[in-house]
Amino acid sequence: MDANDVVIVSAVRTPFGRFDGVLRGTDSIDLGVMVLQEVIRRIDLDARDVDEIYYGTCIPAEYAIYTNVPARQISLLAGFPEDTISLTIDRACCSSLTALRLGYRSIKAGDADVVIASGAENMGNVPFIASAAKTRWGNRLGPIELEDVLFELGYGRKGFAPVATDAGHVAVEYGISRDMQDEWAMGSHARWYRAYEAGKYKIGEEIMPVTIPQKRGEPIRIDKDESPRDNLSSERMAKLNTVYGSPTVTAGNAPGLNSGASAIVIMRRAKAQSLGFKPLATIKACECAAGAPKYMACVPAQTIEKLLTKLGKTIDQMDLMEINEAFAAVTLVSLKMLAGNEPEKYRTLQEKTNVNGGAIAIGHPVGASGARITMTLMYELIRRGGGSGVAAICGGLSQGEGVLLEV
Ligand SMILES: CC(C)(COP(=O)(O)OP(=O)(O)OC[C@H]1O[C@@H](n2cnc3c(N)ncnc32)[C@H](O)[C@@H]1OP(=O)(O)O)[C@@H](O)C(=O)NCCC(=O)NCCS
Repeated sequence: MDANDVVIVSAVRTPFGRFDGVLRGTDSIDLGVMVLQEVIRRIDLDARDVDEIYYGTCIPAEYAIYTNVPARQISLLAGFPEDTISLTIDRACCSSLTALRLGYRSIKAGDADVVIASGAENMGNVPFIASAAKTRWGNRLGPIELEDVLFELGYGRKGFAPVATDAGHVAVEYGISRDMQDEWAMGSHARWYRAYEAGKYKIGEEIMPVTIPQKRGEPIRIDKDESPRDNLSSERMAKLNTVYGSPTVTAGNAPGLNSGASAIVIMRRAKAQSLGFKPLATIKACECAAGAPKYMACVPAQTIEKLLTKLGKTIDQMDLMEINEAFAAVTLVSLKMLAGNEPEKYRTLQEKTNVNGGAIAIGHPVGASGARITMTLMYELIRRGGGSGVAAICGGLSQGEGVLLEV
């Protein structure tokens, strides 16, 4: 143990909502405010002790109506002092894990002692948009055409393929069939239910409850993830159509378009000691990667390999792993790469990955997911009495972000 270690002292997220669920009308900025307030309230950390707030969010169309700097807006709305430094990050689905990496670096560099890494997204709150060329500067007369940035997740406008299409093709290239992806997806839901019934997603650990005021009547309280399904069958899964021209990806083996926020407080170990906080986990390293845009499914494996190389460790030494289920295809391709050509090792790695379910069941509010997989990993390591674990996530056009934790 080193006084300069970076440790996690608090971590929380909202329940993740469905596309058409209870949270769909709540601005991502407001979800961000909720987690920032809760993550310090939990441990009674004084907002004045926080040096920097990093905030990941990656669908700007959703918060565009509030102009820009959502990180600055949420830090002020959440009651942090006016001189708290903040930064908004868009590294696609990696964003809140990038937030953690930048906070980690800032502490390691000696520039900060206490940082909050956070992220939020509300995909159900994304408006249709109208381009300036067709409205402000173009439309003297006639109807206005609206566009949907969620459709194919938008990269097609600049000539890239939809992520679901790339992920499916790469899975096929790696010998991972539609059936295998469907089976993994069903397992994700089953693992979430097992964990939930065992009390693992309880309020006070990973989850905070959220109360949504209603125009009429009592406010609605949401205290668990909305996406897990318990009525799955291989037959129904197999009947689902593929989406966006993907050879394998369907609504069943993809995550939904979700809402939610997450936040993690990290600090120098010496600072945690001086403030009287018990570290929950030590961050051993953070890493990022990028690769050929089509091969997004491979980036979590490449990021994990970079982490392991940096720390002189092997994948077999990891007790638990989280690989974000951007699609079942991503988790399975990355695990296959990490296993090399060893079928037994591939099975072993599957058994210790996303043990309490992944994004297919929990949901994938893109800007919030990186911090989510980090805390899901950490709380399970704590329940098991300690160990080492790695979490990695891919982001649009083949970016990767990962963290290696020790409890
Ligand atoms: C795949 C996607 C287009 C589906 O959107 P959607 O149509 O709103 O999704 P739904 O949840 O309504 O599911 C569509 C249908 O499949 C069915 N379905 C979904 N999952 C199912 C499952 N596991 N078993 C059986 N049926 C299922 C639904 O019941 C629904 O059927 P219905 O229309 O008869 O009710 C959308 O969720 C998506 O784009 N996901 C990917 C997000 C993404 O790319 N994230 C970033 C990764 S980098």
